[in-house]
Amino acid sequence: MAAFRAGTVVLFAVLAVSLRALAGDPDITVDFITPPGVTPDGEFFAFRGLNRVISGGPSGVPFMVTKLNQEIFPALAGQSVSLAVLQFGPGAAGVNPPHAHPRSAELLMMLQGVLNVGFVDSANRLFNQTLYVGDAFVFPKGLVHYQVNGDAKKPAVAISAFGSANPGTISLPKTIFGSQIQSSVLEESFKTDAGVIGKLVAANSD
Ligand SMILES: *[C@@H]1O[C@H](CO)[C@@H](O)[C@H](O)[C@H]1NC(C)=O
Repeated sequence: MAAFRAGTVVLFAVLAVSLRALAGDPDITVDFITPPGVTPDGEFFAFRGLNRVISGGPSGVPFMVTKLNQEIFPALAGQSVSLAVLQFGPGAAGVNPPHAHPRSAELLMMLQGVLNVGFVDSANRLFNQTLYVGDAFVFPKGLVHYQVNGDAKKPAVAISAFGSANPGTISLPKTIFGSQIQSSVLEESFKTDAGVIGKLVAANSD
């Protein structure tokens, strides 16, 4: 009986550990991963050119994100870290629409300007805040969040760190209205008509 109990406890402990491991990037059993045919040197681990984005607002668009994930920077593969630089034009047009990152929390730090940010938890509570240069804010893993410029005249710039080499982005406007989900499903879900859904689909399809 005691042996059975001990065995059960061990089984649950193993299950708990493996479930936790699945919730983030897998651990690798080598120091680093290199693409086939690449012999790494110091340069392989460097990424250059972000000075362009950390020094001002976006050019030609109201909002711009520059991702530094494993797709863009292969040395990140297996390392469970990545970055994004976010640039917001002035006013409400400078918005990063509600979205979520399925594989990581996000730790944002303000470099320039003012941002109003917020996330919604699984109990539908909004947690929001105004951030100034030097402030940081954490968006918990998988929760829907947004950022919008809090200054009508000046751009804002922030840098975000992620605990995944490929955190992924689920952008709600695009996911819901730009993915070919049948209009009837959206009409029922949003309690509205085909005309309204048609406009939202047109605005979010490219
Ligand atoms: C937080 O959200 C509330 C409700 O929408 C809003 O009234 C308030 O201005 C927001 N605060 C910030 C800092 O965004």
